[in-house]
Amino acid sequence: MKEGDTELLMEIARFETSVDVEKDYRIGWSWRHVRIWPATLSRLFKDGYLDNVFRSNSYTGYRLSEKAKALVLANQEKDTDDSQTAPLLKPSDDLFTDIIGHEDVKELLKATLLAEKPVHIMLTGPPALAKTLFLWDIEQTFGEQAIWLVGSATSKAGLWDLVAEREPKILLIDEMDKMNTVDMAALLTLMEGGRLVRAKRGRELDINNPLKVVAASNRLERLSPELRSRFAIRRLNPYSRSEFLTVVRGVLVRKENLVEEMAQDIASRLDGISQDVRDAIRVARLAPQVGVDKAISLLLGSEMNER
Ligand SMILES: Nc1ncnc2c1ncn2[C@@H]1O[C@H](COP(=O)(O)OP(=O)(O)O)[C@@H](O)[C@H]1O
Ligand SMILES: [Mg+2]
Repeated sequence: MKEGDTELLMEIARFETSVDVEKDYRIGWSWRHVRIWPATLSRLFKDGYLDNVFRSNSYTGYRLSEKAKALVLANQEKDTDDSQTAPLLKPSDDLFTDIIGHEDVKELLKATLLAEKPVHIMLTGPPALAKTLFLWDIEQTFGEQAIWLVGSATSKAGLWDLVAEREPKILLIDEMDKMNTVDMAALLTLMEGGRLVRAKRGRELDINNPLKVVAASNRLERLSPELRSRFAIRRLNPYSRSEFLTVVRGVLVRKENLVEEMAQDIASRLDGISQDVRDAIRVARLAPQVGVDKAISLLLGSEMNER
């Protein structure tokens, strides 16, 4: 059981007591009713805290299991003692926590993911601004419900069949600018009406539950105006100097396991030399062998001479 799960189950119990489960939720409630991410619910289900009372392509209905009810009861008794517990952390607050900054983009994507009907989002902008990371995080949270495509690899036979078969709720497309025109055309119809023409026998997706597309692209020029107009295009701007320092420090400490001082050192020495987080990662990886200064001059020699 993960930290916070008990609180989630208590929250669900509160929901169940606030409604008439027998009458209004005979096929169970879904993630939308309790506002908890599907992946979290499916984990609770696997752990035996939820009963899955109904399942179709478009609806998964749950109820608290007896095991969960027992746990909730035990905690309610405890709760009366220490009622001043920390505010409940919604799992949606977990999403994107490894991404530093970009707060408005996070908010936009969360709103999109919770929305009933699709709004497609395209993240665009120069490299190393966490565009791919956003897609990754969504895939992590939504698991099976998300399908990941990379533009340059789409044309592979059977790929659209996979989309038709799995009926994902979310399509994640990275490097969209590299997608070929045929696949782009297929995507066009898919985004409009949930109809998938590239799959065998023109299989149709569940139109009542059309999918959402979240895409990333360095460039927009290669995308046709029709396709562009189907997306809300969200531009990520290059980091300012202070944002770059914060992002690099965070990434080096959390992902590259550097100590805080070392991360800070690399970040400030790169200040004015590079605005690319990937440069910082490369420096961090070579620094143990040759030192920070040398790593920077080896990797970014010409840029430094140009100054
Ligand atoms: N704001 C950020 N928060 C966390 N990591 C970041 C951020 N910006 C860049 N990175 C890191 O920089 C690298 C490149 O990010 P990526 O998502 O692949 O960029 P893009 O797809 O925009 O080119 C990754 O290692 C990522 O972890
Ligand atoms: Mg990328």
